[in-house]
Amino acid sequence: MVNNSAYFAQFLWQEFGHTNQVELNSIENLISAAIGLGARKVGEWSRTELDLTTSVRTLPFDRIEGIRNQINRGHDPLGETLCSLRSPEERRGSGATFTPLPIVEAMVSWAKTMRVCPDRVIEPGTGSGRFLLAAAKAFPGAQLLGIESDPVAAIVARANLAVQGCSKRSHVVLSDYRIADVPRISGPTLFIGNPPYVRHHKLDAAGKKWLSESAGRLGLKASQLSGLHVHFFLATALKGQKDDFGAFITSAEWLDVNYGELVRQLFLTRLGGQGITVVEPTSRTFSDAATTSAITQFVIGSRPERIRMSRTKNAARKETLTDGRLLNRSRFESENRWSILTRRPEKAREGYIELGELCEVHRGQVTGANRIWIAAINSSMLPESVLFPCVTRAKELFAAGDALCDVSHLRDVIDIPTDLAVFEKGDRRRIDDFLGRAKALGADRGYVARNRKAWWSVGLRSPAPILATYMARRPPAFVRNVADARHINIAHGIYPRTPLSPQILDRLAHLLSSTVTIKEGRTYAGGLTKFEPKEMERILIPNPMELETERVA
Ligand SMILES: C[S@@+](CC[C@H](N)C(=O)[O-])C[C@H]1O[C@@H](n2cnc3c(N)ncnc32)[C@H](O)[C@@H]1O
Repeated sequence: MVNNSAYFAQFLWQEFGHTNQVELNSIENLISAAIGLGARKVGEWSRTELDLTTSVRTLPFDRIEGIRNQINRGHDPLGETLCSLRSPEERRGSGATFTPLPIVEAMVSWAKTMRVCPDRVIEPGTGSGRFLLAAAKAFPGAQLLGIESDPVAAIVARANLAVQGCSKRSHVVLSDYRIADVPRISGPTLFIGNPPYVRHHKLDAAGKKWLSESAGRLGLKASQLSGLHVHFFLATALKGQKDDFGAFITSAEWLDVNYGELVRQLFLTRLGGQGITVVEPTSRTFSDAATTSAITQFVIGSRPERIRMSRTKNAARKETLTDGRLLNRSRFESENRWSILTRRPEKAREGYIELGELCEVHRGQVTGANRIWIAAINSSMLPESVLFPCVTRAKELFAAGDALCDVSHLRDVIDIPTDLAVFEKGDRRRIDDFLGRAKALGADRGYVARNRKAWWSVGLRSPAPILATYMARRPPAFVRNVADARHINIAHGIYPRTPLSPQILDRLAHLLSSTVTIKEGRTYAGGLTKFEPKEMERILIPNPMELETERVA
């Protein structure tokens, strides 16, 4: 333990103006101050905490009152002191970065905007109890429960709660939050706080085992690379009851990295994610942690159709947690990188939404070997059921004009089901003959074929109502696929997230063709412009209500 007494003396000088009262320069003195402030009045003492209080000494009355005044004025001198007495290395091991009070206030204010008043507030990884203290004022009738693994922090939280007159309705439990017993109550619980950020290589094997087993119980997979904040999200999803709600500020990593998949899954399922605010690092966020944070709001068991996303440099603004834009939940379901969803389209216009709000865009299937899987003379004897008229060249879409109404000029792609037992004898023999020839040409050995369920099954996507080219020296062609042609990877398919009438689809295709310019894509040397599926989803279009009217046609 490092005693940073020079810093601390300066802190006390600024805070209290009495150098002769510099007494909190050790953990023992910090605990003495906490006891002097009434920490014993808050229940659930553990043996470890009691042992820590054996060397408690009585601090001068005016010294204790000075600290009490600071706490009453909304400061956290004990919490600050605890941080200053621990080295950054030591704090990293337990993820102890306490939350700036303005952010705590903003998150608790959001909780107040919810229509339900919690019967209980839980701060997982309580630290000095900053969230519990703010929630105590916001919800005067709520029970307050802190769960903290560091005994000194737990004692400090008790002192803070006692000073605020919350002893009777507070409990602080010294425990690992993941396995702490949280009794069920009949009313709603608010889970609020800043789960510890500890990287996976500092976590022990038992914790990792807990994560994979607990995720498994929910039918989810957990990565062993998950940081401790992921464990806290999972523990909350498991402890929470329907209609419990909450907000956590964590590192924003989980939005995009592979190990964050578990949190993304929980957010969309059991946790009932409502909104995410990405907070860019500034001096106002965490002074000792220059990472991007995310504030995640949830209502357990809910399944909102639209999810709020925003990005801010100032998380202390109260509106930050309610403004932003509402995005269709299917976008979250289909994307595995979420932070991009917080970026507003540059030219956002009134009444316009991104195409991705309405439709998913998917590149067509890769065959792995067009010379084999695009039907030619060698496949003419195959049963019709495995031959699919398909757009296999971009020029077929450029030539189609507004709509592709006829498939007679398109080539067929051979798509054979994985289960060959579905064919009657004659067809099966013809398919086996074809597959024998394809194998002789090495069709089963290519990378794509080896990574399919069955090497012979191309797995074409279903016909997309609108097809688009995506790589050319000109803007993409958007074509209504009236003929239900399939497409391979030279085109993107545009699939409505919810059914759209043929009229709206016609207008949408027409509108995209007439308005999308190459500027919206990614231009490569030589003027070749490419639209990846996700880039195409970001194209702005009038919202569906507008498309219903003639105005935009
Ligand atoms: C990021 S700090 C947040 C403290 C406080 N909630 C705040 O926002 O100011 C995380 C806290 O979690 C505690 N902690 C770390 N691992 C824990 C665990 N497994 N169970 C409970 N608390 C834990 C740390 O000791 C630290 O106090």
